[in-house]
Formats: sequence, C-alpha cells, structure tokens
Amino acid sequence: MTELELCAAAISAMKNAYVPYSGYRVGAALLTKSGRVYTGCNIENASFTPTVCAERTAVFKAVSEGERDFAMLAVCGGKNGVITGAFPPCGVCRQVLAEFCPPDFPVLLITGEGAYRRVTLAELLPFGFGPSYMEEKVTD
Ligand code: THU
Repeated sequence: MTELELCAAAISAMKNAYVPYSGYRVGAALLTKSGRVYTGCNIENASFTPTVCAERTAVFKAVSEGERDFAMLAVCGGKNGVITGAFPPCGVCRQVLAEFCPPDFPVLLITGEGAYRRVTLAELLPFGFGPSYMEEKVTD
C-alpha cells in the first residue's frame, strides 16, 4: 500500500458521505500496521451534534474490529466532494487519533488529485493530552 494508494482510498470514501446539511464531503483512509485499510466518511444528522467526522468513522471502524496499531491516515474533503486544498482533521478527531497513535504518526492531507501534504500528529496536536497522562488506566 503506497501513500498515493491510501490517498485514493480516502478520495473514494468521500462518495459515501451523508451530508444533506453542509454539502462538505470528507473521506478518510486509515492504514493498519497489519496492512488493512479502514475507510470512513462523514455522517451528518438533522440534530447536528450527533454528526460524526470521516476520520472518527475510520478509527472507530478499525478499533471495533480489533485493530489498534495504525501506520498512517489519509484525509480529504471539500464542498460537493471537490478538493480545492487540504481539509485537516478537526480538534476532536485529533484527540481521538492521539488515543491510539504516537506523536510521529503520519497524516496525509490531500490537496488535490495525486497531491498531498504529509504532517505528523504532533504537528496537528502539539502538547496533546493522551493515555500517558492517565496514571491509573482502568482497562487496556
Ligand atoms: N468534518 C469531517 O468529516 N472531518 C473533519 O475533521 C472536519 C469536519 C465534517 C463534519 C461535517 O459533516 C462537515 O465536515 C462540515 O464541518
């Protein structure tokens, strides 16, 4: 799985976005260290707050299938699915990534067809709060 192939999977995932309110289609593709890819799209809701982002859809799909070791994430988005530049993960998604991914975890911000900017989770979430700050973890 190349970085460009992961980007292609994220772009493809935008087609399933359910976005009747914003029109912004977002797609994510999460590569596990075992070589599997979990895709996600944003799913909006008439009550707004239950809306879930593409990145969290991908992470939660993977974790719910027993995968917690991640290698890379690609994400893209744009009005009506047209990518005009990076569509970076929101703060909540950055926090969810920090639960499972190390500071040097690579995130590919897709900027166009075959083009992306590679950043790390630490760049997206500096001095982030993560599991290491929890002295007593109840479960693994
Ligand atoms: N959205 C994502 O899917 N991921 C992000 O990290 C940023 C925002 C979605 C939520 C909503 O459906 C739309 O983009 C506009 O905010």
